Amino acid sequence: MSLAVAARSINATAYGYVSSWALLTACELQLFDHLPARADELGAVSPDAALVETLLYVLDEEGLVDRDHHGVWSQPESMSTLLTGDQSYRDYLGGQVLQQMTPRLTLGTTGENVLAKVLADPASRQGYEGWFADADEAHAYQASQYAGSLGPAKALARSLPKPSGRVLDVGGGWGAIAQAIARTHDFDVDVVDLESVVAAAPPAGDRVSFHAGNALDPTTWPTDRDGVTYDGAVLSYLFSSIPGDQHEPVVRALADRGVRWVAVHGFMVGSGAHAAAWSLQHAVFVPGHVSRTADDVADMLERHGFVESDRRPLVDEMTTLVVGVRADRAG
Ligand SMILES: C[S@@+](CC[C@H](N)C(=O)[O-])C[C@H]1O[C@@H](n2cnc3c(N)ncnc32)[C@H](O)[C@@H]1O
Repeated sequence: MSLAVAARSINATAYGYVSSWALLTACELQLFDHLPARADELGAVSPDAALVETLLYVLDEEGLVDRDHHGVWSQPESMSTLLTGDQSYRDYLGGQVLQQMTPRLTLGTTGENVLAKVLADPASRQGYEGWFADADEAHAYQASQYAGSLGPAKALARSLPKPSGRVLDVGGGWGAIAQAIARTHDFDVDVVDLESVVAAAPPAGDRVSFHAGNALDPTTWPTDRDGVTYDGAVLSYLFSSIPGDQHEPVVRALADRGVRWVAVHGFMVGSGAHAAAWSLQHAVFVPGHVSRTADDVADMLERHGFVESDRRPLVDEMTTLVVGVRADRAG
């Protein structure tokens, strides 16, 4: 590699935060909802048109906006579809990502480099349980997570082995995935999540029920109800959210309960350009976080009798779904 190529790679990485922050801030301020417009027509965003113009030039470099020769800024239709309107990707980027995730990786609330602090003192991480002890934080996070998971939820539900009974969703949040499974397959889904999460969960329909419990303690999971055992279980983003040494016990507990299939969805390093980044984003606050590849996950499922039946990307360049089915009950 030449020095020039090396310098270009370094700079692209080092200064990526500028365009990232410009995008997240534009989402927070709902700037794209005002386009097409000239910078001097964007008084709702800032009284300083030159400042807005500079921000838009940064986004232009990333292909997110276009400027015509009259100085009117607009967006390609596909960008606008994703980045404008309520419950759009804009809300997730300007909400959970900007307000809750970036401070956890960067300068926190004190101006101290969180990543550097955690590298020096890994035991300082408090995990979701510590974070969600604050009910307002849990609420803001889940509202955004719910909106962000609606899209992947449909794809995940369609990719499952056809359920033939009740499904358990461990760490299911406000039930975006559970609702999609219930709707697609017409079976009940029981969601387990932390008390502060399920206490504030909006109704998710007759087929989805919420249970306060801890993924790390299977005795707190709902027991099979009405004599009906769980057919399968979904772990969506759970492995990023709990200590790495707890992944295998969760799978073991599911195997002990006799589920026929387990679907693991999340950030699997080596599968997608943003998978490692999102693993790091969780590693800075989840104690004992361990990054896994899709092969690691498939091997773990196999150790407990679940043979890989499907593996596919779900959120482009970011998440992967690995499904295992018990070899003796594959039919
Ligand atoms: C990234 S969110 C994913 C939510 C949902 N599965 C989805 O795909 O939209 C991670 C979830 O794991 C939950 N979680 C984290 N640690 C947990 C634990 N020890 N027990 C139960 N749930 C937990 C969080 O409260 C949060 O709802």
